[in-house]
Amino acid sequence: MTTATAPAPGTDAGPLAARRIAGLGARARLCGLYDTLGAPLYQDLATYDDPETRALLAGVRTAPGPVLDLAAGAGRFTLPLLAGGREVTALDLSADMLGLLRAELAKAPAPMRSRCTVVQADMSAFDLGRRFPHVLLGTTSLSLLDADGRAGLYRSVLAHLADGGRFQLTALERGDDGPDETAARVTGTSGTAYELYEHWPAGATSRSVTLLPADPPADGGPVTVCTDRVGVIGLDVLEAELAAAGLTVLTRSLLTPPGERHRVTLLTTEATR
Ligand SMILES: C[S@@+](CC[C@H](N)C(=O)[O-])C[C@H]1O[C@@H](n2cnc3c(N)ncnc32)[C@H](O)[C@@H]1O
Repeated sequence: MTTATAPAPGTDAGPLAARRIAGLGARARLCGLYDTLGAPLYQDLATYDDPETRALLAGVRTAPGPVLDLAAGAGRFTLPLLAGGREVTALDLSADMLGLLRAELAKAPAPMRSRCTVVQADMSAFDLGRRFPHVLLGTTSLSLLDADGRAGLYRSVLAHLADGGRFQLTALERGDDGPDETAARVTGTSGTAYELYEHWPAGATSRSVTLLPADPPADGGPVTVCTDRVGVIGLDVLEAELAAAGLTVLTRSLLTPPGERHRVTLLTTEATR
């Protein structure tokens, strides 16, 4: 597996998050964001009607045909694509995230369900034996791979792009000069409130994200604390990698307002002719 390796969860959080975890003592159940304990919390915070989803879906609408959704997770893009009549292959490494997707599919009408193929695989080395006019890698999930993993991803994507096919991916950069670490209270779809910490010093090559329920159970029971460290890849580095791999950037769209801490750019690429 070539996902950038994270240190043991919880050991790598920023100072504010580390203090919070230490305050929980033995109650803290440390996990990653996409594993058995973390996946439901991550998914509770997923958004569906947001600029990134709208931009990716608009890109897909430019041409007919099936879609390969990489790092699909619980189906933030897969589900609306299926609802819009597309055939979708949803690929993800995490059995837990795919379990959440399968649960959503089980509730969907049969024709929608029948258009979805769920694949558990590593996006940096996969072979589906077919090509797609659309390949997506959203949610800035490219940052989950190290340099070798990204090279494998570009190779795998090229082997799955149909003639004239488009590979859309989003990238994350720091867009402000705010504090190294932020702490926010956010509410999930279930109504549960969470504390979300991000430690990302300007110029750092990685950032850490920590998520835990804001109101731990009053009975003194365990508290799930998800922590992951993910890489940061500058747009200039990413574009150089894409060019070297044989992918030409056709368009760049900034998806976030200027000055926001999270600067998200959508790149639309095709195989270099
Ligand atoms: C930020 S989440 C995005 C999930 C979904 N696209 C969404 O927007 O909610 C990143 C996803 O990448 C998956 N992932 C991490 N490393 C991966 C790899 N090497 N290959 C495939 N999926 C991977 C995780 O399991 C997780 O579901």
